Amino acid sequence: MNRRVLVVDGTGRGHAICDLFVRTDPTVTVYYGPGCAASDEPRIVSVPQIRLDDPATALDFLAVNPVEFVFVSNIDALSIGYADDLRAHGHQVIGPSRAAAKLETSKEQGKVFCVEHGLPTARYAAFNDPEAARKYVHEVPYSCVVKTDGLTPDGDGAIVCTTPAEAERAVSRFADAQGDDFHVVVEERLYGREISVFALLDGEDYLMFPTALDFKRTLEGDAGGNCDGMGSLAPHPDISPALVEEVRRVLLDPLMAGLRAEQLDYNGFVYVGAMLTADGLRVIEINARFGDSEAEAVLPAVRSDFTRLCDAVLARNIGQQQLLTDDLVRCTVALTQGSLDPLDPDAAPGWPFGRFETGQPISGLAEVDPALARVFYANVAQDAQGRPVSNGGRVLHVVGAGATLDEARARSYSQIAKVSFPGMRYRADIGVLRQPLTGWTPQALAEAGTPAVATLP
Ligand code: AMP
Ligand code: GLY
Repeated sequence: MNRRVLVVDGTGRGHAICDLFVRTDPTVTVYYGPGCAASDEPRIVSVPQIRLDDPATALDFLAVNPVEFVFVSNIDALSIGYADDLRAHGHQVIGPSRAAAKLETSKEQGKVFCVEHGLPTARYAAFNDPEAARKYVHEVPYSCVVKTDGLTPDGDGAIVCTTPAEAERAVSRFADAQGDDFHVVVEERLYGREISVFALLDGEDYLMFPTALDFKRTLEGDAGGNCDGMGSLAPHPDISPALVEEVRRVLLDPLMAGLRAEQLDYNGFVYVGAMLTADGLRVIEINARFGDSEAEAVLPAVRSDFTRLCDAVLARNIGQQQLLTDDLVRCTVALTQGSLDPLDPDAAPGWPFGRFETGQPISGLAEVDPALARVFYANVAQDAQGRPVSNGGRVLHVVGAGATLDEARARSYSQIAKVSFPGMRYRADIGVLRQPLTGWTPQALAEAGTPAVATLP
């Protein structure tokens, strides 16, 4: 039976999800809206007229192109109630409701959820008054992170501070930007290595996916501000069966129980950003979608038929499924649109913290050896002659796979060397681990491969 699905996204993560469908299910055709017009895979059909900010465009498409279900994996779409609208029109949808997506879009709601349902998280307070927030950062006996909802000029809405003076400045910056709408969460700064945890939920139960380590800082050496992520490793280098157990017990089981208790209509991927602290796992954020660029490193490992897993989500029996994965390490590196001329003070500074010039011709994609690395398209368009050009901040993700971390990294960078566009910028140290590993050994990694990561009881 030939199957048809629609994926709503337009990022490297979206491409990795479409690839997961077609790679694991030879019968499926994926419509991908808005997708990426530059991609030319026969069973991934981009639908540019579908807009992330307007579910009516998807409804128009579905009226003439019926599919079995729609997978909404983009937070911009989820946050405006895309999944709710499509469901209200009778479509089968995988993707959390607008109310459930607030766990990500409202920092305070995410924190309240953690506290009420027993997920360990950093101490915090929420403020509508900048003066009170400024006072608070001087009173608490620890360093602070100042957070607000949505994106900020400095990245993804969180300013990690060391001193009270820095935190005070962060509060003032948000106050200047937000005026009367000022609202921040100030929380205790945690220390340790972050871990990105993923699961596919059916509303009642979950199937854990492999973990990842995201490189969120914009510059080499983990310097610069937080951005959407410059690259990732999967599985997470600290993973072990014991850590998987702990993730389930401390994070995913309480999360699932909390969603049920609040009757939040949640199916689809959840992404818990956590920190491995000296006191154990702590939640940093709950996101209502897969991580980007973690998806590019995690999903290519999956061997299970993903259309069938989606069927199980819709039938609410994901708890009975197993996830088969390979036991390779993957290292994905984001190629971003940086400055066109670093020596020109008037040139656009580039992504993530400044203007950038899109439309730059991309060369070398055909030279990439698919046996060594996979390329996912994030912001790639076509020029009038049909050639690929850059079209946004993160342009491409290059994913090297290997038996070891070193091999995966080397493969990724060896293939990146073949690709170029004017202003291309990437971190040369994705996969370099600055903090000591807590328990990663080749044996632990092998155990974390097929199928142990996802099938522990
Ligand atoms: P968020 O805005 O909550 O998504 O946080 C963005 C990033 O800021 C996280 O991925 C962390 O890298 C960092 N961060 C957020 N909260 C904390 C915290 N309490 N301690 C240390 N780093 C944090
Ligand atoms: N890689 C971080 C995120 O998807 O938010």
